[in-house]
Parts: sequence; structure tokens; C-alpha cells
Amino acid sequence: MDLKPFQENFYEIYKVQATGIASAPGRVNLIGEHTDYNAGFVLPCALNFKTQVLFRARTDQRVTVRSLSYPGESDQFDVSQPIVKGKSQWGNYVRAVAYVLQQAGHVLSGADLLIDSDVPQGAGLSSSAALELAIGGVFNALSQLNLSATELALLGQRAENEFMDCQCGIMDQLISAKGAADHALLIDCQDLHTELVPLPDDLAVVIINSNYPRKLVDSEYNQRRAACEAAASKLGVASLRHATLEMVNANTSLTATEQKRARHVVTENARVIDAVAALKKADLAALSQLMAESHQSLHLDYEVTVPATDTLVRLSQAVLGNEGGARMTGGGFGGAIVCICLPEAVPRLREQVLPAYTAQCGLSADLYVCQAGQGLTVSYF
Ligand code: GLA
Repeated sequence: MDLKPFQENFYEIYKVQATGIASAPGRVNLIGEHTDYNAGFVLPCALNFKTQVLFRARTDQRVTVRSLSYPGESDQFDVSQPIVKGKSQWGNYVRAVAYVLQQAGHVLSGADLLIDSDVPQGAGLSSSAALELAIGGVFNALSQLNLSATELALLGQRAENEFMDCQCGIMDQLISAKGAADHALLIDCQDLHTELVPLPDDLAVVIINSNYPRKLVDSEYNQRRAACEAAASKLGVASLRHATLEMVNANTSLTATEQKRARHVVTENARVIDAVAALKKADLAALSQLMAESHQSLHLDYEVTVPATDTLVRLSQAVLGNEGGARMTGGGFGGAIVCICLPEAVPRLREQVLPAYTAQCGLSADLYVCQAGQGLTVSYF
């Protein structure tokens, strides 16, 4: 990619040249939804959509932030002072990362930053994790903190949990930190062990963004997490990772809602492991079946789908037949669906699903054929 125009933008704003760039991707989760904060398994891949941050150290301790996506806005704060929320929502993600680094005892240097991103926002593709990781990468380099990719991911998650009030798990930050081109990443969220799983060349990964307006996402998300923790506690296990379907079905102290939430998590964990085996054998029929079951479970037991994503999945499944699978991806309550299919099926998805979706839901969807991209990189010019 030609960085020259972006570097010129930096120069126009700050009247000095940037000395380096950090880049971190968004993600799509292939399977394993709402399992990460239950110490379970997930199988995301990093996207070739990414957030890039040009940077230059300052001699004082001020951080100045601009974004090409919000040209009229800027944010500024001082890393030698306690960091609190500011007025800019995207600026708060930058502050959140600086805050958790400060809390962890790191001494940060000031910096001039310019952000650019092509990760679709509000689509459930983790544009916020991409920003957190890119910013973590900048501070790691400028302040010579020597943090590993996993440590940066954990700090990004803490930034969400402690500063942005979202009790998210580790998936989005860890895949943004450690993703690799042409691979999905199996993550065991109990010990953060990761395994790269090659994506077969002859399969396409397609994202269809419903463009359904997402509302109350964080509060619903935090409620799901609380129900899982209550269920684990009643089942006498440290997390739902250690529960079995028999335990969930037999326990009479669980509320009906807790039982449904726990059933989703337990069955979804098993589906992730089966999906990895199916991918390794390039068994598209098995993979499609697992994706269909995952979506049903998220619809009926976890109750995080909406008519827009249910419709997109139903239409895509009808078009793909036995040539691929479809399910909602990410936290839910709108956002995107993911399809894994033969490349020759992609034009039919575009030509048949998109108009039918508009006719049925009154919204227009965006379709992206994606390549699994590289995780966080930081380099100096
Ligand atoms: C959001 C969170 C993740 C994960 C997914 C659901 O993307 O940030 O930690 O819980 O939802 O799988």
C-alpha cells in the first residue's frame, strides 16, 4: 500500500514527519461465539481491513491524536497526569490504552498520532480492538516497553473492561495481535494457547454486514456474561468451560434463562473443536452444518440474533445449499454474518441475497470477500 498520501497528511497536521507506523486488523469470527469470557474456544481470523497509526515521539508528555475518519475532531491528553474520559468517542479508546498502561506502572512518552482505518465500524468486525492494538503497539515502541503480542492484547481487553465499561473477552484483541495471513487462529481462552489453522485455498470467507442499527449492545452483552457466571457458580465450576451438557440439563437450580445460556456455551465449545477438524480436512459439508447449528444456538439459546441477521443467514443458506455455511458473527444484536463457501458461489450470494434482504428487511447490506490478514505490526521508516 502506498503510504505517501497518509504521511503527507501527517506532515500537514504536525509540520514534522512521522517516524513510524503501527497497523492492526479487525477480525471475523468463524465459529465460537460468546465462549471467550467462559474460558472456552474461539476460531477467528484477522482481516485485511486494518487500523493504521502514524506516530512520532514528542519531547513533552502530551499525546495529540487526529483521525482521517473524523477530520474536524482532535483529542489531547497528558500522560504524566491521571487519564480520564474525554469528549471524543474514538479518542477515548486511545486514552483507554494509555490509562491501562499507566495503571500497569509503565512510564509513557508523549506522541503525535494520526489514525486511519478501513475496518467497517459498527459491523461487529472489531474496529475498536484494531484501534486498541495499534495504539498499544505505538506506546510499546515509543516507550520501549517490550510487551509481547499477548500482553498487548490483554491490555487492550483491560482498556475495554476498565475504561470503556464493556466486559468483553479476549478474542478480538488476541486475534488482532496474533493473526496471520491465510490462517484462522484457534484460541483456548483458558490459557491463551493459540494454534494457527490454515484456511484452504479453495474456500472463500465472505462477510455480509446487515447495517442493522445496533442498540444497547454493551448492556445486553454484560447481562449475557453475568448469566454465564451465575450458571457456572450454581454448577460448581470455575467457568462454563468445565460444564457438560448433562450437568446443565440435570441442574434444577439454574433459571430457564441460565440453562439456555449455559447450553449454548457448552455446545458451542464442542462445535469449535469439530470445526477445526472439518477445516483441516476441507470438509465443507461438516463445516456448514456446524455453522448452521451455531447460528440456531445463538438465536434460540443465547438470544443475540436479530431478524436482520436471521434473515441474512436464512437467505445465504438457501443460496449456498451444500456449497457452504452461514452464521452470525461477533457479539450480535445486529452486525454481520459470515459465510464460508466455494468461490464460485460468491456471485450468487451477491446477486440473490442482497436484493432479497432489502425486500424483506428494508435495509441494504454490504458484502465483502475477505482475505485472512496479518496481526499487529509496528515499523519505523
Ligand atoms: C465481542 C467481544 C468478544 C466476544 C464476542 C462474542 O466481539 O468483544 O470478546 O465475546 O463479542 O463471541
